[in-house]
Amino acid sequence: MKKNSKESTITLGQVMLPTNANVAGNVFGGEILKMMDSVAYAVAMKHSESNVVTARIDEIIFHKPIYIGSVVQCTGKVVFTGKSSIEVYVTVYVDDIQNRKSNGKALCAYFTMVAMDENNEPKIIPQLELIDEQEKIEFEKGKERYEKRKSIRKYQNTI
Ligand SMILES: CC(C)(COP(=O)(O)OP(=O)(O)OC[C@H]1O[C@@H](n2cnc3c(N)ncnc32)[C@H](O)[C@@H]1OP(=O)(O)O)[C@@H](O)C(=O)NCCC(=O)NCCS
Repeated sequence: MKKNSKESTITLGQVMLPTNANVAGNVFGGEILKMMDSVAYAVAMKHSESNVVTARIDEIIFHKPIYIGSVVQCTGKVVFTGKSSIEVYVTVYVDDIQNRKSNGKALCAYFTMVAMDENNEPKIIPQLELIDEQEKIEFEKGKERYEKRKSIRKYQNTI
């Protein structure tokens, strides 16, 4: 069985409140990370129709500050599938409502989620149906990242 990315893509929006931020009004990185993980979880859960766990989060760089009052929009999309693993590309866009401007993309990251069966073992998932050329390119790049991570893990297990 195959499923396309549109069937599981999700966007979550949230207004940043004082409880999300430090004394200077900067939103905590962990708050954004939690949102991103929640989105990746929901997307992978929809794709696999099962429970999933986060196996890996690739490099996260906070390019722009996010302040109290901003509207944060977090979108997750499946870009690669292995046998039981699902790579979700998560992007975060920020709108500064008070100053009526969009601050654009604040950050992005690849989340590797693994689908689990009722015995808490990795389970086979539907493969990703690629709907256009761009998705084919993204999938091939995802496959390269998957192979690279696998060989690093293999090496780490020997030392
Ligand atoms: C993720 C986890 C289930 C993998 O278990 P495992 O025994 O290594 O399973 P496998 O070796 O069979 O790997 C299963 C899949 O996970 C992928 N995987 C495992 N570790 C990975 C890692 N560090 N990075 C990326 N992918 C990983 C494998 O490539 C494999 O993908 P594939 O089936 O598509 O080929 C296990 O390490 C785990 O439970 N980790 C804790 C997860 C967790 O608690 N997260 C936070 C809370 S949700």
